[in-house]
Amino acid sequence: MNKGRTYHITTFGCQMNEHDSEALAGMLEELGFSESPERNSADVAIINTCSVRENADKRFFGTLGQLKKIKKENPDFTVCVCGCMMQQQHIIDSIKTKYPWVDLIFGTHNIHQFPQLLQNVMAEREKLVKVWEDGGEIVEGLPTKRLYKHKAFVNIMYGCNNFCTYCIVPYTRGRERSRKPEDILEEVRRLVRDGVREVTLLGQNVNSYQGDENTDFADLIYMLNEVEGLLRIRFMTSHPKDLSDKLIQAYRDCQKLCNYIHLPVQSGSRRILARMNRRYTKEDYLELIGKLRQAVPQITISTDIIVGFPGETEEDFEETLDLVRTVRYDSAFTFLYSIRKGTPAAQYADQIPEDVKHHRFNRLVETVNSISAEKNAAYEGRVEQVLVEGTSKTDSNTCSGRTEGFKLINFPGNSEMAGKLIDVKVTAGKTFSLEGEVL
Ligand code: 5AD
Ligand code: SF4
Repeated sequence: MNKGRTYHITTFGCQMNEHDSEALAGMLEELGFSESPERNSADVAIINTCSVRENADKRFFGTLGQLKKIKKENPDFTVCVCGCMMQQQHIIDSIKTKYPWVDLIFGTHNIHQFPQLLQNVMAEREKLVKVWEDGGEIVEGLPTKRLYKHKAFVNIMYGCNNFCTYCIVPYTRGRERSRKPEDILEEVRRLVRDGVREVTLLGQNVNSYQGDENTDFADLIYMLNEVEGLLRIRFMTSHPKDLSDKLIQAYRDCQKLCNYIHLPVQSGSRRILARMNRRYTKEDYLELIGKLRQAVPQITISTDIIVGFPGETEEDFEETLDLVRTVRYDSAFTFLYSIRKGTPAAQYADQIPEDVKHHRFNRLVETVNSISAEKNAAYEGRVEQVLVEGTSKTDSNTCSGRTEGFKLINFPGNSEMAGKLIDVKVTAGKTFSLEGEVL
């Protein structure tokens, strides 16, 4: 009934949000909509927001501002906003007062109601706000329109119980809820039948997954390792305090589990880690890295680091640099601490001046990047198994893919290679990617 109508989705934030957008797209296609590459000429525009850092907030409000003109020219243009920011009352209040051209506001816990909400808004032309404070039952079986053909995200759990003092996620995504192992297995089998070769298991803290009495996260990996036709398993994100020896053993036993881990450390200072409520020390973290490397010598490791957390002294920051030099990460996502209203750290009196934060940030990025470049250069001459993603948008004779260790690699190739696992010899290692040639 919506034939000929189009939608456009703008997604901010993490993979969890990207995956939610895949579900929104799936639901819209079931309603008869098709995707429009242009936001301004679409019938329905959705903005899926992130609230982890302030920057994303600013970009969101900037985007909303731009839509005013479109709405004025075309009153049928339907503007929907959703995602983490909508779980905060002060954001909803400011949208209602300052951006009245928004038609529909919904939250992270009621995505499954979107088709109904959208139809109401479009039929009645009334504005709707529907944000549940917390998630009830997990809703299974939402259709999804996948972003990639050969790899897919699979949620295994929702929410977070950790309350790191800087983080808004426990407030926007609610408490931890795990999906049942049989539902996950069924989804993965279905994806594989559909051509998927690699799954990334998603959760804020996958290590505390508990599907039922007998199934923890490592058990789930062992189960998925048996799925025929699936070639690779990845996961994110993993909290160091909950990473079990059983999971480390799974790296050795499960051939499909990629030898790669994203293990956010956030800081190298014991004092700052305690103030962040991370519940491990620098020493605990380094011990864990030691165990992982002992079990899986070729494992690649990435992390998240926050610079300028309240009270961070020069010595604390030096501890972070020291940790980075000790671990020698393959890559690291670095963030300037950003105050999030409603979190404990927002109340801390000893906030760090912006110029100090930026200065430290630049030093950290330099350290991180030079190690990445050295690590990647060491790949020159090696042969890596690569899952080919497809050809480059700008050059149909260049393919890109990921090595088992999640390194991006570009090499001469053609579209027929997409979805295949092939051997590629690395010819050059750069800071953020590798170059290679097919053997
Ligand atoms: N400020 C800066 N970075 C943050 N992160 C989470 N909250 C904040 C914040 N308030 C970072 C953490 C986390 C990543 C997803 O975002 O490093 O691991
Ligand atoms: Fe946020 Fe900490 Fe939970 Fe990660 S573990 S989502 S940083 S509260």
